[in-house]
Amino acid sequence: MFSSRKISLAACALLVAAGSLARAAEPGSFGYGKPATPAQIAGWDIDVRGEDGAGLPAGKGTVDRGAEVYAEQCAACHGTFGEGEGRFPKLVGGVGSLRDERPEPTVGSYWPFAPTLWDYINRAMPMPTPHTLSSDDVYALTAYILHLNDLVPPEFVADRNSLPKVKMRNRDSFIWTDPRPDTTAKPCMNACVNAADVRISSTAEGRNLTPRTTGPLDTMQPK
Ligand code: HEC
Repeated sequence: MFSSRKISLAACALLVAAGSLARAAEPGSFGYGKPATPAQIAGWDIDVRGEDGAGLPAGKGTVDRGAEVYAEQCAACHGTFGEGEGRFPKLVGGVGSLRDERPEPTVGSYWPFAPTLWDYINRAMPMPTPHTLSSDDVYALTAYILHLNDLVPPEFVADRNSLPKVKMRNRDSFIWTDPRPDTTAKPCMNACVNAADVRISSTAEGRNLTPRTTGPLDTMQPK
């Protein structure tokens, strides 16, 4: 008894020592892996904010160049003029349909911000080979799709300054503030409730809320 206790104490001491060694090697981490480099982070950090285009890169693209790239890389699925092939999504049309029984949400009828179009194409399209387009070609495709939707003139040049200024049709129909009280409540991280103040004012017990039997619905009424 005595000796096995000694052994387990020694084992504990070893474990503690091993743990502090690992922590000493890499403070605040699990002792493996290495910090991401700025270049690695940049590869992931591609989000563009819809409202003001924050995050849009340098570069630009015209409607004409967009038409060329679109014909090669997008038309097979989305149709030459964005009308959609088969069941692939339409990129134009649906204007005025959003309150209909069968609304048609498209870039032209539904999307609130033009920079989001840049972001979407850049991160997800063309569907079989995303992340293969240059920034300039993504700008050009964005310009072309906005033009197909009559949102910009044929001479429009898309870049980080012009895109946030495009007025999208459905821009003002989104609700940007969330009125539910818990979205504005100040989060409490510590000593939030004084245990002495907690009173249980009601329980489910004795209120016939839980069926006493299980089985088909009509036999579940409390007796
Ligand atoms: C192989 C077929 C295919 C190709 C090629 C393709 N797309 Fe798509 N695209 C899709 C599908 C499918 C979706 C819907 C994806 C989803 O909802 O998750 C989509 C969605 C989109 C949307 C969002 C539509 C919306 O209103 O939600 C845009 C914009 C778009 N594609 C642009 C492009 C552009 C630009 C290209 C060419 C560079 C392209 N796509 C090439 C299949 C394709």
